[in-house]
Amino acid sequence: MACPRLLGTARRVSAPLPRHPRSAQAPPAAVAPKHPFHDWSELSASTSLAPDWLLPPADANALAEGVWPASAHRDDDGVLWIAGVSTSQLRHEFGTPLYVVDEGEVRDHARRTLAAFRAAALPHGVQARVYYAGKAFLCAEVVRWVTAEGLAVDVCTGGELAVALAAGADPARLGFHGNNKSVVELENAVSVGIGSIVIDSAVELDRLATIVERAGATQAVLVRVNSGVHAETHDFLATAHEDQKFGFTLDEAPAIVARIRETPGLQFIGLHCHIGSQIFGTAGFQESAARIVELHAALLEGGEIPVLNLGGGFGIAYTSADDPTPIEDLASGIVAAVSRECGERGIPMPHLAFEPGRAIVGQAGVTLYEVGTTKPVDLDGGAQRLYVSVDGGMSDNARPALYGADFSARIASRLSPAPPALVRVVGKHCESGDIVVDADYLPGDVVPGDLLAVPATGAYCFSLANNYNYVPRPPVVAVREGSARVIVRGVTIDDLLAHDAGLDDGRPAPRGSDETNEGAE
Ligand SMILES: Cc1ncc(COP(=O)(O)O)c(C=O)c1O
Repeated sequence: MACPRLLGTARRVSAPLPRHPRSAQAPPAAVAPKHPFHDWSELSASTSLAPDWLLPPADANALAEGVWPASAHRDDDGVLWIAGVSTSQLRHEFGTPLYVVDEGEVRDHARRTLAAFRAAALPHGVQARVYYAGKAFLCAEVVRWVTAEGLAVDVCTGGELAVALAAGADPARLGFHGNNKSVVELENAVSVGIGSIVIDSAVELDRLATIVERAGATQAVLVRVNSGVHAETHDFLATAHEDQKFGFTLDEAPAIVARIRETPGLQFIGLHCHIGSQIFGTAGFQESAARIVELHAALLEGGEIPVLNLGGGFGIAYTSADDPTPIEDLASGIVAAVSRECGERGIPMPHLAFEPGRAIVGQAGVTLYEVGTTKPVDLDGGAQRLYVSVDGGMSDNARPALYGADFSARIASRLSPAPPALVRVVGKHCESGDIVVDADYLPGDVVPGDLLAVPATGAYCFSLANNYNYVPRPPVVAVREGSARVIVRGVTIDDLLAHDAGLDDGRPAPRGSDETNEGAE
């Protein structure tokens, strides 16, 4: 019989899963693993392979604050629970690897972000709109959650637009950006009455002008500007010209805006920029705001400009070493910078728009894996690194391979008294760069069969997922108030075989028998 994970059916936990009473919770007991094990603690204690930022924890079972969903905790047996659902139960019901997303956590971040920007904008007499950047993690349920919390949605392809519309999003509250929107994508967006389109090139402006003329439509547009500020985490780089594909330079933008203003059917509503991702602090945003407001002020000579969209990029904590700026501080710092820049130029402040993705969904996601093998590897200089292999990898989380992104991990199925061992968690793909967690400390008795949880996987993990090596793609299960349900079905091996047109005529796969190899030598 086929393994249930390969059938690709949506499974829903029929009855609400048992809820763990968080209150009156005794400290969890340490549980020894059921398998015979080697204690790797000594191995890592004797090496200095850890990156500078990673210190050995006092307790390798501890869940770092701000990295996990707020609902995450361990029960008396040490099992990790999320939103009232036991991860052991999730493993049993849905298998591993598994994307788990805490619906309440997504909604809380959406609400808090909107409230922060509205509160920051209010004293300046302007409005703030928050678009959820769908690229971080888009599916029908997420669209419904964030729109119910008052967010608009930003999409960057016809596919993302289709998901948002299918989920029932109001087209007037959708924004569409991207550097290569096709004629078909633009026609579709205009015909459904999309709220705004961010123009990214002169070619696109021509395309859109033709489309609105033919359709007799009026379309609100923004112009993507490349402010020359590029920010990553704590630092930002400011140049006159950025060597990248998005938008127009500050010098090019006025001519494009003038052309838009002359084009019947196009209504220029503002400038748009996005300076990068996983940004801590407000310095990069403030520098960018100064440059953009200068351009905005110059363009006011040609007519009103009601909106300024400053994009997303707000950072989250992936490990205990990350200390992201609270969204309230980011909001007040950025809005104050725009106000200051407008004040200095004596111009009215525009309404503001923002596009956070990661900050809405990142912390809500936890990926569950099963440990398959553990292997100490000898390195030059006598050091040894402990590799812990799990049943997923770069197919469900491409970020470490793509960006060298850091994640952390914890054993989810038990508490361990073993001292911490430095590990590298790797996947099952045929790539040495197939790393899930480059460096973290796990209890030194980690063994095959342990359930491993990697937090902060809610953004850019599912959305970047692939089927490299024909590894099935995990389903996404939403947890909320003690129950769990599949919100995106996994991609199974049966699904992948169904895409292989070479199997359409029912011919059996060639077997490479002795007969066919006859005479080969
Ligand atoms: C134009 C634009 N807006 C918003 C975002 C969302 O960024 P983040 O998820 O870092 O908030 C991105 C991400 O690349 C983007 O390109």
